[in-house]
Amino acid sequence: MANSSSGTSVKCRLVILISGSGSNLQSFIDAAISGDLNADIAAVVCNRPGAYGLERAANAGIATELIDHTLYDSRDSFDAELVQRIDRFTPDLIILAGFMRILTPSFVQHYHGRLLNIHPSLLPKYPGLHTHQRALDAGDDKAGATVHFVTEQLDGGPAIIQASIDISEQDTADDIAKRVLVQEHQIYPLAAQWFAEGRLTLRDNRALLDNEELSTGGFQYTKP
Ligand code: GAR
Repeated sequence: MANSSSGTSVKCRLVILISGSGSNLQSFIDAAISGDLNADIAAVVCNRPGAYGLERAANAGIATELIDHTLYDSRDSFDAELVQRIDRFTPDLIILAGFMRILTPSFVQHYHGRLLNIHPSLLPKYPGLHTHQRALDAGDDKAGATVHFVTEQLDGGPAIIQASIDISEQDTADDIAKRVLVQEHQIYPLAAQWFAEGRLTLRDNRALLDNEELSTGGFQYTKP
């Protein structure tokens, strides 16, 4: 993160939450190594034993924490444990990268302004599940993904950046998911880099980039 008083640049500390394959996690690992993302991934937290993302983290020498949600009798107790384990790593920013759990309001409030999610649709279209199939069923000619601040409204927090691809009725939801993932891997580390640079903030339920309010879908990404 920018540290103007000393003129040095301190790395943004990330904790990344996953449930599955972790290809978005891999894009963060790669961006941190290449220098595109000025961040240290302090830990990866996962709620599913055996998730491939845990292997990706271990291969990169990143600390992992497994918190199996099935062992907790309520969302509150699971989220309380989650907060405790995350906070041991004193993160600046929490990244939800395919973390397939609905979070409690107290979790979301605890990380207000420093909790990001990626959702596989052109929000505000298609919050929730089966996004690509819903886009196909609606006859849409575009699908995509959106990075947004997490607020208490499911998939409803202010959008930061969005990437879209053309789709056609010949596509299956799986075809679309593969092509959208490629875009996800571009836009998610970029949004985190904006945060690391101190350029991205959440104020009054609005996402601001360089002090300018972002529009409904966020910054519209096109590959440079
Ligand atoms: C990604 O497509 C992400 O957008 C989606 O899960 C996938 C995780 O892939 N997230 C959600 O659906 C959250 N509602 P990954 O494990 O390979 O990063």
